[in-house]
Amino acid sequence: MAPTPVNVTVTGAAGQIGYALLFRIAAGDLLGEGVPVRLRLLEIPQAVKAAEGTALELNDSAFELLDGIDVYDDAAQAFDGTNVGLLVGAKPRSKGMERADLLEANGGIFKPQGEALNGAADDVKVLVVGNPANTNALIAQSNSDVPADRFTAMTRLDHNRALGQLATKYGVRVGQVSKVTIWGNHSATQYPDVTYTEIDGKPIGSEVDRSWLTEEFIPRVAKRGAEIIEVRGASSAASAAAAAIDHVHTWVNGTREGDWTSAAIVSDGSYGVPEGLVSSFPVTASNGKFEIVQGLEISDFSRERIDASVNELVEEREAVQKLGLV
Ligand code: NAD
Ligand code: LMR
Repeated sequence: MAPTPVNVTVTGAAGQIGYALLFRIAAGDLLGEGVPVRLRLLEIPQAVKAAEGTALELNDSAFELLDGIDVYDDAAQAFDGTNVGLLVGAKPRSKGMERADLLEANGGIFKPQGEALNGAADDVKVLVVGNPANTNALIAQSNSDVPADRFTAMTRLDHNRALGQLATKYGVRVGQVSKVTIWGNHSATQYPDVTYTEIDGKPIGSEVDRSWLTEEFIPRVAKRGAEIIEVRGASSAASAAAAAIDHVHTWVNGTREGDWTSAAIVSDGSYGVPEGLVSSFPVTASNGKFEIVQGLEISDFSRERIDASVNELVEEREAVQKLGLV
C-alpha cells in the first residue's frame, strides 16, 4: 500500500524563504526518503496569487513525492489536520534593526495561528522561523492547546553558521565538527558555545584560541544575520530554508550518535532557564522528540553569556504580556 502523505503547512509561502523552502520539501528533503508530502501554503490575501504562481512551478517540477498543493488565506483551513507547521510568514528586519524591533509588527500574527493550530493533527510539529522567532513561538504556544513540546523556534541556522565558521578555522569539513551549542535567543545576545566541541571526535576545548573565540567567533555567529542583510541587501533566505529543513529532518529522524544539535524549545527549567521560555539548548532527538542534553558543566564564562540571552527572552516575554499576546 502506498504510504499516507504527510501534510506540511508553510506560512509566508510567497516570501523569500518560502520560495527556497517549498522546492526542498517537495523534493523529499524535509522528512526523508520515500515520504510523500502534501503542501499547504498559507498567505495573506494580497499574496495568494504569488503563492499560486509558486504552486504552478512546483507542479512543473514533477516532484515524485509531491502528493498535491493547496493554497489558503485562512489559517484554520491551512492548519486543519496538518502534521508539520512551518511558521515563516512575518516581516523580516531591514538594515539597522534588531530582531526584537519586529515584536509589535509580527507578534500579532502568532496568536491567531496558535489558536488555529488546535485543529492540527495529534502528532503536529511546529517550527517558528518568523522573527523574533523564540518569542513568536512562545506566543503561538501560549495561545494553543497543542502540547508545549510540539512548539519550537529556529536556532539551527545559528548552529549551522557556527559549524561553518569552525570548519573554516580548523580547515575541516562541517561533518567532522560535533557538539556545538547555541544557547538562548535567536538574536545578537545568543551564545554559540564550543566548550564541548569535537573535531573528528577529539575535544578542541583546551586548545581554542581565546581571543579568536571572544573577538571573532562569538560575535560573528551572533551577528551573522545582520552581516547577510548588509552584504546581500536582504535577509538570509536559502540558508534559512536549509536550516528549517535540517531542524525538522532531525526532529523526525533523530540526531547522529555521539552528537547533538541546537533548537529553541519550551524550557523545563534546565540550566537555570526559567520554565516556559522558548530558549535554545543543546538537544538530541529520537522517536520524534527533542530532549535537552543534561549534565553539562557550565563555566562562569558560559554562565554569564547564557544569562544575558535568557534575560533578553524574559524581557521579550514581558513586552508581549503587555501587548496582551500571551
Ligand atoms: P518575506 O517578506 O520575503 O516573506 C514573508 C511572507 O510572509 C510574505 O509573503 C508575507 O505576505 C507573508 N505573511 C505575512 N503575514 C502573514 C500571515 N499572517 N500569514 C501568512 N503569511 C504571512 O520574508 P522572508 O525573508 O521570507 O522572512 C520571513 C521571516 O523569517 C522574517 O520574519 C525573517 O526575519 C525570518 N527569518 C528567521 C530566521 C531564523 O533563523 N529564525 C532566518 C531568516 C529569516
Ligand atoms: C537571520 O539570522 O539571518 C535571520 O534571523 C534574519 C535576520 O533578521 O537576521
